[in-house]
Amino acid sequence: MEKNFKRTLITTALPYANGPVHIGHLAGVYVPADIYARYLRLKGEDVIMIGGSDEHGVPITIKARKEGVTPQDIVDRYHTIIKDSMKGLGISFDIYSRTTSDIHNATASEFFRRLYDNGQFEVKTSLQPYDAEAGEFLADRYVKGTCPHCGNEDAYGDQCEACGSSLNTTDLINPRSMLTSSPVSWKETSHWYLPLDKWQERLSNWILKDHTEWKSNVYGQCKSWLDMGLQPRAVSRDLNWGVPVPVEGAEGKVLYVWFDAPIGYISNTKELLPDTWERYWKDPETRMIHFIGKDNIVFHCIVFPAMLMAYGDGFNLPDNVPANEFLNLEGDKISTSRNWAVWLHEYLVDFPGKQDVLRYVLTANAPETKDNDFTWTDFQARNNNELVAILGNFVNRAIVLTHKYFDGRMPQAGTLEPVDEALTADIKRIKEQLSQNLDTFHFREALKDAMELARIGNKYLQETEPWKVAKTDMDRVATILNLAINLCADIAVAFEPFMPFMAEKLCKMLSIDMPRWTDLGNGNLVAPGTALGQPELLFEKIDDAAIQAQLQRLDRIKKENQIKNFRPEPQAPDVDFDTFMKADLRVGTVLECTKVPKADKLLKFLIDDGMQKRTIVSGIAKHYDPADLVGKQVCFIANLPPRKLKGIESQGMILSAVNADGSLVVISPSANVVPGAKIS
Ligand code: MF3
Ligand code: ZN
Repeated sequence: MEKNFKRTLITTALPYANGPVHIGHLAGVYVPADIYARYLRLKGEDVIMIGGSDEHGVPITIKARKEGVTPQDIVDRYHTIIKDSMKGLGISFDIYSRTTSDIHNATASEFFRRLYDNGQFEVKTSLQPYDAEAGEFLADRYVKGTCPHCGNEDAYGDQCEACGSSLNTTDLINPRSMLTSSPVSWKETSHWYLPLDKWQERLSNWILKDHTEWKSNVYGQCKSWLDMGLQPRAVSRDLNWGVPVPVEGAEGKVLYVWFDAPIGYISNTKELLPDTWERYWKDPETRMIHFIGKDNIVFHCIVFPAMLMAYGDGFNLPDNVPANEFLNLEGDKISTSRNWAVWLHEYLVDFPGKQDVLRYVLTANAPETKDNDFTWTDFQARNNNELVAILGNFVNRAIVLTHKYFDGRMPQAGTLEPVDEALTADIKRIKEQLSQNLDTFHFREALKDAMELARIGNKYLQETEPWKVAKTDMDRVATILNLAINLCADIAVAFEPFMPFMAEKLCKMLSIDMPRWTDLGNGNLVAPGTALGQPELLFEKIDDAAIQAQLQRLDRIKKENQIKNFRPEPQAPDVDFDTFMKADLRVGTVLECTKVPKADKLLKFLIDDGMQKRTIVSGIAKHYDPADLVGKQVCFIANLPPRKLKGIESQGMILSAVNADGSLVVISPSANVVPGAKIS
């Protein structure tokens, strides 16, 4: 349904304030939303972009308890980090607020109350896990017990982190409370439910019939929810952190975090525009776009719309929900609890002045249709081979040549030749494509289009060779550089949504204000005679050392996680004593140690065993430098039958311990002993 809109309300998923923001959040939500908002602003459209921290929910209370501070302390800390780092990356929120604000509390409360007064809820009573000692109900995350699938004794009430199965608290064997460690009891409690089933038909028509243009991942998820049949959903919880349920007798109950958080979009708009906020929420000529990650689809396409319908009063439903898939990091799922992430606030410190590089790489790799991977080597390659070599190079050549031949003043163009006409036509064509991709949320493709402008610029200079023409025909050089400099200005506008810092710097070099989107491709963005600034490099190469430092950090984190999550193998079945005593274990001194050719795992040892020199081949080459082992004492099994490995006869086996990360550590006596000493 093509409609005409007067204004756009862009919402961005409110990040949980229980940790900083990482590249997954950025690639999935904030960078695409910012691209879109900036694009609309360049077009002169009426648009606001709303953001804020999601400061309620159980994980925040768990973190607070762990650290011995209040939930408010936790959210104050992360709200500040998130807000500052987003600003640092140039995410241009019109407001970035928070769900612990008074205005949010009042708005969410009123929202619930209106639904309550209008009979939009059902009340249901159920048995919930309860800690009798603490006198508190327990969220799933506050219950631990034995996993029925793998026997892990520390599985949570919602999932087992050892085997990855998702669980219900009732599945756990011997569930216990994390508050007091006492066994969980069950107690009846009542909650308010939003009957989604009541809205099933309206939601079905609205999404499946009227919004066939939505991204297929979004449409598909909605369809499968709708096909399964919607069920009533609880909108309150027994918890002491959140917006209190505004109903008498509801002491100790708060709004479920997924009920209050989306209302945060409304509260934050109100905070931004106390007098005119309704225009952005209720005027049918406003369209609302939710930028979110795939785990938020059901809440934004089904639950929140049902809440808005239940509220009535002319609230608009979202016009589009361009949800993204997930970004992985170096092949592994990003995880806040495992610290497996590139944190935005750390990136800004490690790579000062390189905000645009991250924005570029995250857009080029955006998980628009499938999960995608961020790797540091790709980050480096895109910077060095694309931003420096193509974009930076073109702009630099055009400006340097203008300084060289025209004293830095924009020359007047003369008659156009076919190559110039072709360039002009290409720019127009690219602009069309770029606009269309931006209009339809295809930001990866759009970025490629913008990059195409730099590519054709380089090609144009290559073909026209102004440095050669300068020897004979300065009028012609004037035309070429006029076109090239105007193309630089086109590049500034075209890239502004993606790389605003670079775009601003470029405009300064061209001595122009940021052009409007409509003027892109006009060929007259820089007036003849304009004195250009000095050419400065827009991008610089990122060297291997910076990338290695990041990879080493990740390696360290991986090791720490392996040690944290280490669970010893279950004990082997009993072996009888006499059998064990048959093994002849001894200490020997390493005389020589060398790599076995053509075997990347094997080391060849020559060992003094007190009687003779004995050769042993051992599979520890990946873990040791052979030179470091010479002179060391090792433990080995002396009476194994000899075995050939890569043509070498091995007379025994050296003992090593297997560490959490799979690395092998050779066993040595704690003090030197005579070679050949028996181990007993
Ligand atoms: N905090 C949620 C998350 O990170 C997103 C909340 S979006 C809102 O997954 F709509 F509820 F605000
Ligand atoms: Zn398990």
